[in-house]
Amino acid sequence: MFITALPPKNSLAPILPQDLFEAIQALKQKLNAIILAHYYQDPDIQDVADYIGDSLELSRKAANTKADVIVFAGVHFMAETAKILNPDKLVLLPDLNAGCSLADTCPPDAFAAFKAAHPGHLVVSYINCSAEIKAMSDIICTSSNAVKIVRQIPEDQPIIFAPDRNLGRYVMEQTGRDLVIWQGACIVHENFSEKKIVQLKIEHPEAEIIAHPECEPPILRHASYIGSTTALLKYSQQSPNQAFIVATEPGIIHQMQKQAPDKHFIAAPPMSSCACNECPYMRLNTLDKLYLAMKNRTPEITLPEEIRVAALRPIQRMLEMSA
Ligand code: 13P
Ligand code: SF4
Repeated sequence: MFITALPPKNSLAPILPQDLFEAIQALKQKLNAIILAHYYQDPDIQDVADYIGDSLELSRKAANTKADVIVFAGVHFMAETAKILNPDKLVLLPDLNAGCSLADTCPPDAFAAFKAAHPGHLVVSYINCSAEIKAMSDIICTSSNAVKIVRQIPEDQPIIFAPDRNLGRYVMEQTGRDLVIWQGACIVHENFSEKKIVQLKIEHPEAEIIAHPECEPPILRHASYIGSTTALLKYSQQSPNQAFIVATEPGIIHQMQKQAPDKHFIAAPPMSSCACNECPYMRLNTLDKLYLAMKNRTPEITLPEEIRVAALRPIQRMLEMSA
């Protein structure tokens, strides 16, 4: 039997990049959609987005949008948070495989047992976790409000902090609180090479090292400023320094460079010579997948209603506590 090769549903052959930008703009109007993008996305996705931000800002934007469709250019837990906040809206993620290594380190069954082993503890979970973990949590936090949120919890209240051990350790140092920490980590932020960063600093003594709190302690010790992606971006604009070694996913450098074209930004190097300081999950999203998601109104984020309702409460607490 001879089968004529039809153009696959996901074929983009006739569409050139400029047409793609225009086609996405047209779909945005047609769907009444908003495109939210994290700083770790490819530069062309950042350039087509309506709003670029860190996890907290993107959650706030998702909570307040009047759009009918949210196209989330980020990873699964971010789009899932948008869906938790907007059960009646269509939430699209260009590639459903865009997960998160850190979220994966915290499986729900093991976390339920961990929680049961620490009765009386309040559970503060970093937003980089699944909806099931959020549903077992009392308050969600992000890298930009974790310290602020823990400081608002009464001194005598024991706390579990999950799932990132590096952020947990950083919050302990900043608040002086004794947290029970789930031992999860991110493959990107655990992969920076202290040796190569020190070498870079020797080659560029004028450059300031700035880092995300998901990095390991030896990297954070070399940093003159530690913060979320938005905080790093703002710091790099406001600092009188002209050069920076940036220890987080290098997608953020696109905005740093755009907002300060005369400054010099150097991506902190990973241990090996791979491109593994780029988040392999974030980078699964591409401009053509984003276009196809809007055109086909899929892949869509869905989740069981009882999980959504249980996960909503700690997210709302976070939004109230970081207002
Ligand atoms: P932000 O809170 O800076 O957006 O960090 C998100 C993230 O995934 C870091 O790896
Ligand atoms: Fe997850 Fe790490 Fe990627 Fe952030 S950089 S989304 S924590 S895998």
